Amino acid sequence: MGEIVLAAKNTHVPSIWMDLTMEKFRGIRKNAIDGLRELGRRAHAQGADTFVVLDVHWIVNQGFHVNAKARHEGTFTSHELPHMLSGMDYGYDGDPELAHALRDAVAGAGFAAMAHETPHLGCEYATLIPMHLMNEAADIRVVPVAANQFASIEEGRAMGAAMAEAIKASDRKVALLASGSLSHQFWPNAVSQQGLTSVNTEFNRQVDLRVLDLWQEGQIPEFLAMLPEYAERCHGECKMIDTAMLFGALGWDDYQGKGELIGEYFGASGTGQANVDFSLPA
Ligand SMILES: [Fe+2]
Repeated sequence: MGEIVLAAKNTHVPSIWMDLTMEKFRGIRKNAIDGLRELGRRAHAQGADTFVVLDVHWIVNQGFHVNAKARHEGTFTSHELPHMLSGMDYGYDGDPELAHALRDAVAGAGFAAMAHETPHLGCEYATLIPMHLMNEAADIRVVPVAANQFASIEEGRAMGAAMAEAIKASDRKVALLASGSLSHQFWPNAVSQQGLTSVNTEFNRQVDLRVLDLWQEGQIPEFLAMLPEYAERCHGECKMIDTAMLFGALGWDDYQGKGELIGEYFGASGTGQANVDFSLPA
């Protein structure tokens, strides 16, 4: 019987790549880098054999999509922020069997669901940044799952619940990552460079901090009750559909666990970011 052995919300900000590759920015993302490496250590310690990454930069407009390729490889440059993230080589094995099982389960829940093995379908950076640090030896398979920008929170919940059923029915140990931001309001152009390490609006920062408290205190039903409004008012990255899918997979308001903040909450170009590991039933 398969299981989710690690469930996390993680950052993927491209300034991590700046820290790793540009002398001028060395050290600015140490907190994020250390947190991602720690999540990777935990995934390995739990015996994960596949990362399923809910990727808010693989944005789709209809249905549910999963990358079912047997091999992901290439050199990535971000179209959104090419000055921050370019020339990243990557190579990971995929997991076609699990990807198709995810597709089948989500289709069974009533969604138009598709698994793709098209050769030129690349990976996006909400998968590649965490994999670069969590899966450095490329010894864990990778399945990117797209974020539907028009899906409701309820639809995200249902997709996540279906994915959890598919994982349970498989023989895989899955590390499930909701790779997305907390609040996500970029700074205006005039101040974007000064805002590299801060959160845009005190309102967003305070709501993010309260959300992290709720997660750490295990007040998940309270968090879920505010999630649709949180996604709306705090400019959720892809409407926080990754978070909806993650909690759907964990059991939604039946989930009894809590989050562990790894490192510190931080700002990046206006957005609010964190790495959080969610406890799982023994
Ligand atoms: Fe992002």
